Amino acid sequence: MEEAAQPTVVPRARETLLEAHEVIKAFGGHRAVDGLTFTLARGAITGLIGPNGAGKTTLFNCLAGALKPDGGRIVLDGRDLTGAAPSRFFAAGLARTFQIPRPFPALSVLENVMLAPRGQLGEQPWANWLRPGAVAAEERRTREAAMHWLAFVGLARLAPEPARVLSGGQRKLLELARVMVSRPRLVLLDEPGAGVNPALLEQIVEKIAALNREHGTSFLVIEHNMDLVASLCSPVLVMAEGRLLTQGAPDEVLADARVVEAYLGGDAADAGPAAAPGSTAKRPTPSGDGALAA
Ligand SMILES: Nc1ncnc2c1ncn2[C@@H]1O[C@H](COP(=O)(O)OP(=O)(O)OP(=O)(O)O)[C@@H](O)[C@H]1O
Ligand SMILES: [Mg+2]
Repeated sequence: MEEAAQPTVVPRARETLLEAHEVIKAFGGHRAVDGLTFTLARGAITGLIGPNGAGKTTLFNCLAGALKPDGGRIVLDGRDLTGAAPSRFFAAGLARTFQIPRPFPALSVLENVMLAPRGQLGEQPWANWLRPGAVAAEERRTREAAMHWLAFVGLARLAPEPARVLSGGQRKLLELARVMVSRPRLVLLDEPGAGVNPALLEQIVEKIAALNREHGTSFLVIEHNMDLVASLCSPVLVMAEGRLLTQGAPDEVLADARVVEAYLGGDAADAGPAAAPGSTAKRPTPSGDGALAA
């Protein structure tokens, strides 16, 4: 009996975890996401690249329930969650980080991470009176989990400090700890490398790879740093003007003339990559000094 049940319980490594079908999101008349179809494999670290304004963050907002798509379908782990509230995506195992992290500055680093799990017993007013022991035990577990993930990202020392003392890179690490407290199946990371110094960046890459390897967490990673994408992500999806331009192995995608064109075809063609506003962090930053591809 047990053997017969096993195949349905143990997921295959490359099973589909998320399916997006013809997703559309428009602002005014402009379709920021324009009929996007793709799947994410369970257990993969998938990259999502594309020039500024391609619609990547808007897509994340649709995938996390922060924005209701104007069309299409989003299926997470076999459940159709199209148009559902963020709490339902969260309950289905999805967590996301923000392009610009905004921790509560006056709360401690630890408290910011402890805010992550929802539906805690202590949020129910009656529970504090009727089941104070259970509430305290739950809070202790959340605190331990928060400390565990803070240590994991190397921020344990800063746990009691107010979050306002954190550098940009440390805020990115705080985000990673925050999302991990809820033990998500799928994590959407919006530019984890932006504004992070190279030493910290290496740490972040290592942490994401370890979470994927050791906990089986799947990731979808938006990133402009092509070194990070090449070393961490496979496959890579490329968005341009709200659409899926191409997808494939990082080496193939980064050498694709259409991808280079999409990046250079915008304002970068006029200003040149180095002179572009927003600095190199917003531009493809491939290995060495060169362009996106040779
Ligand atoms: N809330 C909004 N209201 C109106 N337009 C928006 C809104 N959010 C995004 N847009 C527009 O949608 C398009 C896609 O923006 P989005 O932020 O998704 O791009 P992105 O690929 O994440 O870019 P970047 O790499 O710069 O972060 C842009 O033209 C942007 O101006
Ligand atoms: Mg964005």
